[in-house]
Formats: sequence, C-alpha cells, structure tokens
Amino acid sequence: MRLWGDYAVGMVKDCNWLQHWENVVDPYHLLMLHQWISGDQFDGALMPGKATIGWEKTPLGVRYNLIKDLPNGNRLVRHAECIMPNMFIIPSIREPGTKPKRRERGTELSWALPIGNEHVRGMSIVAWPLENGEPKPDWKPGTDTIADIRPGSYLERSYEERQKKPDDLEAQEGQRPIAIHALENLAHSDTGIVILRRLLREQLRRVEEGLDPINVIRNPSANQRIPTGAWNTILSPAEAAALPYSEDL
Ligand SMILES: [Fe+2]
Repeated sequence: MRLWGDYAVGMVKDCNWLQHWENVVDPYHLLMLHQWISGDQFDGALMPGKATIGWEKTPLGVRYNLIKDLPNGNRLVRHAECIMPNMFIIPSIREPGTKPKRRERGTELSWALPIGNEHVRGMSIVAWPLENGEPKPDWKPGTDTIADIRPGSYLERSYEERQKKPDDLEAQEGQRPIAIHALENLAHSDTGIVILRRLLREQLRRVEEGLDPINVIRNPSANQRIPTGAWNTILSPAEAAALPYSEDL
C-alpha cells in the first residue's frame, strides 16, 4: 500500500532514489534538519537529549545505533536499517520513551523504488495489528507522520515555508536531481552513507563478475524468516544502570 497518502514522505520525489534511501542511515539529520534547522519536527523520545550515534554492517545491509538517555531517566536504544539493495525498516518515530520495552521492531518494510534516474517512489508493506479480526482503527503505522507537529510533510507548502522549515523532501531534492558525490565533503556524521555506498558498489562489482549480490537466496531451505535489525528498546533507569552502555539491546 501507499502508506503516506498525500504526505511528502511516501510520495514520488523528484530526485535520484539513493538520496531517499541514504536518509535511513543518517541519524544526524534528525538533529540537524528536524531539530536545529526546522524546529522539533517529531515528538517523543527522538527529540530531547544528547544521542550517542554509531553504525554497523548487518547481515542484510547497514544500520545505525543510537543511544540516548532521556530526560525521564529511561534510556533509548534505537536502530534503523537499510537492507540491500533498496529496502529499509524504520522503527516508530513516535516512541514516547515512557515504558520499558525490548526490541519493538518497525511495523513497515519499505522500498525506495527508482522510477527513473531522477524520480523515486516510497512504498511500504505495513504490519497492521488486528482487533477482533479487523485492522485496528485507531492505530497508526510507526513511521506515519503527524501533520500538526510535522507540517513539513505536507505536499502543499509555499516556497517560503519550504525554505524556512525544510523537511526530508527539501533536503533530498535540494541536492539536485542526481547529487554529485564528487562535490561532497563527507564527515564522520556521514559514516552510514559511506558504508551504504561501499556496500552497494561491492554488489555492483559482484553482479559484474557474474556472482550473486547480497540477499539473493537460491537455496529453498535457506528461504526462512529473516531477522531484521531495526527496533526501539527502552530501558528503565534500573535496567540502564545494570546493563552495559551497549548498542546491542
Ligand atoms: Fe528525515
């Protein structure tokens, strides 16, 4: 299904698909774009407090590791994952951070679908909880945007508004229809993007050599449920004190 309807997150974007996909492993844009530049465009545990950020390769691709001690004393451990070649899982962006929980996984599996070189469409399959056998009516997918706190996700915004409070759409399309990587000055904060591009290049080489890229499964017995690496964990102050300051939670 098209998850986001008329909102900008899941619409067709007028830029190369990679600019959309790279967003997933760029947790620094939560701070730089969604907080410092445009004001708090999310709410809940993603916004307050200082985060410790890292990245790692996973069996499927790459994910970020974000650990944050929340003002309420709880600790957030969060991962979003890019799955080769163009899929991604983002755990709930509206996690309040109030109740301890372990590995609450993302509810959407999404694709950055290239339409051509200069256009991309977001597409998701949503695991929608049932209530009495029917899709729960008051439930929202974890990556659905809330328009009142995130007006930047609306499609119809004036040029001035988009300039003053850019959102993902402006940040991604603003890099040109196809970003010129040779003009970039990548820094530590871009580590996820670097890992992602290297992984992608590695797969292109494998295909050139006649080998299977990552995540191609030809053996039917290996075609089983595949664990993914994107979730939110909330630790109580006692749990946070007892457990190591670790991203593997
Ligand atoms: Fe974003």
